[in-house]
Amino acid sequence: MQHHHIILFGGSGFIGNQLAIALANRNCNVTLPCRRPHRQQALRVHPNIRIIEADVFDDDQLNALCRGQHAAINLIGILHQRQDDDFRRVHVDFVKSLVATCSRNGISRLLHLSALGADQASGSSQYLRSKGEGENLLHTFGQKDMQVTSFQPSVVFGKGDQFINRFASILKLTPLLFPLACPDSQLAPVYLNDLVGRIVDSVDDPSTYSRRISICGPEVFTLRQIIEMIIETTSSPCRVVPLGDGLSRLQAMILGALPGKLFTLDNYRSLQTPNICNQGDLCKTSLPRYLLDWNNHSGFRKYYDQFRRYQASYPD
Ligand SMILES: NC(=O)c1ccc[n+]([C@@H]2O[C@H](COP(=O)([O-])OP(=O)(O)OC[C@H]3O[C@@H](n4cnc5c(N)ncnc54)[C@H](OP(=O)(O)O)[C@@H]3O)[C@@H](O)[C@H]2O)c1
Repeated sequence: MQHHHIILFGGSGFIGNQLAIALANRNCNVTLPCRRPHRQQALRVHPNIRIIEADVFDDDQLNALCRGQHAAINLIGILHQRQDDDFRRVHVDFVKSLVATCSRNGISRLLHLSALGADQASGSSQYLRSKGEGENLLHTFGQKDMQVTSFQPSVVFGKGDQFINRFASILKLTPLLFPLACPDSQLAPVYLNDLVGRIVDSVDDPSTYSRRISICGPEVFTLRQIIEMIIETTSSPCRVVPLGDGLSRLQAMILGALPGKLFTLDNYRSLQTPNICNQGDLCKTSLPRYLLDWNNHSGFRKYYDQFRRYQASYPD
């Protein structure tokens, strides 16, 4: 690759882990700063990935990290705030510092993961407005000194996601009826590996320079349809109870006030915007097809776990 030395922010997350491996497999030298390097043992074994403990919000550390790099990729993001200004700090202020630092260090390529529906002025939630503001900053100020591209994916599924896996875990704990907020929200789920492939291919591709690229999966589903697919896949005895708007809000208020913030009012507001592509890239992997494989895999895992338990009870 032309941009051989890449600094990856947010590489410790769900999408970032997969992206780090994909870039490293293309012979890039990936530097991955993160807060808790001890959690990244799986990446450590790759000779092309360098994991560094760092506070990327510290300007001096950010500057040192960017020195000598050819490209930067920013995946840092949060879905809920602990404190009132967290969205601004993470989605806007960090992007501002990153653009300035990249420019100071002569980094010629900057890629950024935004979100579908991100819009500074009219996003339906604080999450979407702050994502939109960060993206605008990048395209306004980054553009002068470097080639920038931002990606706006719909919800992402794949190994280790917090979408299918989280709903599957909640369904396991739910007795029979599953009260679902915002059941008619529309989503076009994107497969992790498709998204990662698109980002990697874009690093050296001039046709993506200056673009904001929406990325969706091949089909549109309502949230209810997705949950029903998970119920079928996991052979759960649960039945979906679709909540109307008032009860959806109420559920968000209650769950958002509990530790873990499973679903917040801001998440509820994000779901008011259809998470689908009017134009942009359609990836090929379909969610139902993935769920079929997922089921086979978890079936195998169950069999393997039973086998291990059997072995443990008969030591020699
Ligand atoms: N997953 C989706 O369905 C989806 C859809 C659309 C857009 N996106 C966007 O894609 C990006 C990556 O998403 P993801 O699903 O991979 O999320 P994730 O697993 O939660 O990863 C988020 C990354 O951001 C880092 N981060 C968050 N707050 C930070 C802070 N204060 N200081 C330093 N690092 C911080 C995390 O570091 P730690 O590991 O240290 O916490 C982690 O590396 C995000 O910007 C998200 O908005 C995701």
